[in-house]
Amino acid sequence: MEVEVLKLDNLGRGITYINDKICFIENALPTEIIEIEITKETSKYIEAKVIKYIKKSPLRIEEECPYSNICGGCNLNHMCFNEENKFKLDKVKSIMKKYANIDTNLVEGIIYHDRNNYRNKLTMHGKDNEIGLYKEKSNEIIPIQSCLIVNPKINEIIKLLNNTTKKVNKIIIKTSNDNSKIMLKIDGSIDNIDILKKLCSVLILNDQYILENKTIETNIGNKKYLEGIDSFFQINNTLTKELYDEVLINVKDKKYKTILDLYCGTGTIGIYVSDYVKEVIGIDYNESNIDDANKNKDLNNVNNIRFICDKVENKIDTFNDIDLVIVDPPRAGLDEKTRKYLKEINSKEIIYVSCDPITLARDIKDLDTYKVKYIKVFNMFPRTYHIESLLVLEKKDA
Ligand SMILES: C[S@@+](CC[C@H](N)C(=O)[O-])C[C@H]1O[C@@H](n2cnc3c(N)ncnc32)[C@H](O)[C@@H]1O
Repeated sequence: MEVEVLKLDNLGRGITYINDKICFIENALPTEIIEIEITKETSKYIEAKVIKYIKKSPLRIEEECPYSNICGGCNLNHMCFNEENKFKLDKVKSIMKKYANIDTNLVEGIIYHDRNNYRNKLTMHGKDNEIGLYKEKSNEIIPIQSCLIVNPKINEIIKLLNNTTKKVNKIIIKTSNDNSKIMLKIDGSIDNIDILKKLCSVLILNDQYILENKTIETNIGNKKYLEGIDSFFQINNTLTKELYDEVLINVKDKKYKTILDLYCGTGTIGIYVSDYVKEVIGIDYNESNIDDANKNKDLNNVNNIRFICDKVENKIDTFNDIDLVIVDPPRAGLDEKTRKYLKEINSKEIIYVSCDPITLARDIKDLDTYKVKYIKVFNMFPRTYHIESLLVLEKKDA
């Protein structure tokens, strides 16, 4: 069946209509004429795959990755980077308008760096003597030789592991943002561990730390951060600084007394802004994160920050006199209790860092005692449909 692609959905899939029913097609760009085969049909929608491109979009580019459309990691490999950034900016604008009735002029722009080598973490899986990534929506392993979006050091480790005899289930590779230090966790058995000992700063084999170090250190701006294998760390090497700087702009010169850093991970944002406030309180429910947050506090000689290891929703109603709340929740966004409390709290502003514009829009709509000052979009995850946004809210009666 021949169809014309009309627009993109939020996941970057092409959209067309077949007998008035919406049809989603992976790897299809607007204006393209394609021959498709239907792969799924329900009462509400159709999914199809491309059999042949009859007319290609000028915005389509050659896919450099040999695992494109197989590993499921990067679904926008076929879209030129300018178009990807435009798609992501438009996506945030339309979600904000549709679900929270926010003026799209408040979405100020998109900030982006490199399309390649931006990731400081990769999780791989193994079977027999092979290692690779899971095939999209399955547990089948696609062996890989390298990955375009990770730090070069991660590719060095992949190459080395590919040339070594092994039997592993899972591998996690993390690097410092300057690409100088490697942390490697292997579940399984591997020959020639001595080479890995020389290359890595942290080496974990079946939960045993083989070397002295348990963390690697990364710099963001003028702060240093330690990161363990189980703790959360923003995955983009360079753009994280821009994101944190945008938070900082909204804290500097405000002379805030107390600020909350909710969903604080390893305390990175709270520590980043700590020079400009009297007191910061960070909350995260993950013990490894809070362990590393306390180490980061000491590493940077910060004396005005304390961390609480608990769920935000368990603690949120215990604070008074908060000047600013920074939230950076997981994709699920804020829970009902947290939203209710944030509506009532006397915070002058809220800085909301979000990795899911849909839950962001839901939460903003509910936080109706605040109005949106501006939104900036950060392309932290090039080649994928994922996007980070930073939104500043101010109290309506401030
Ligand atoms: C997107 S990360 C933010 C990390 C941090 N702001 C940063 O920039 O590195 C979200 C964090 O929320 C934490 N988290 C998820 N649900 C939570 C909850 N209900 N209460 C407290 N922390 C939670 C996770 O452990 C994770 O560290």
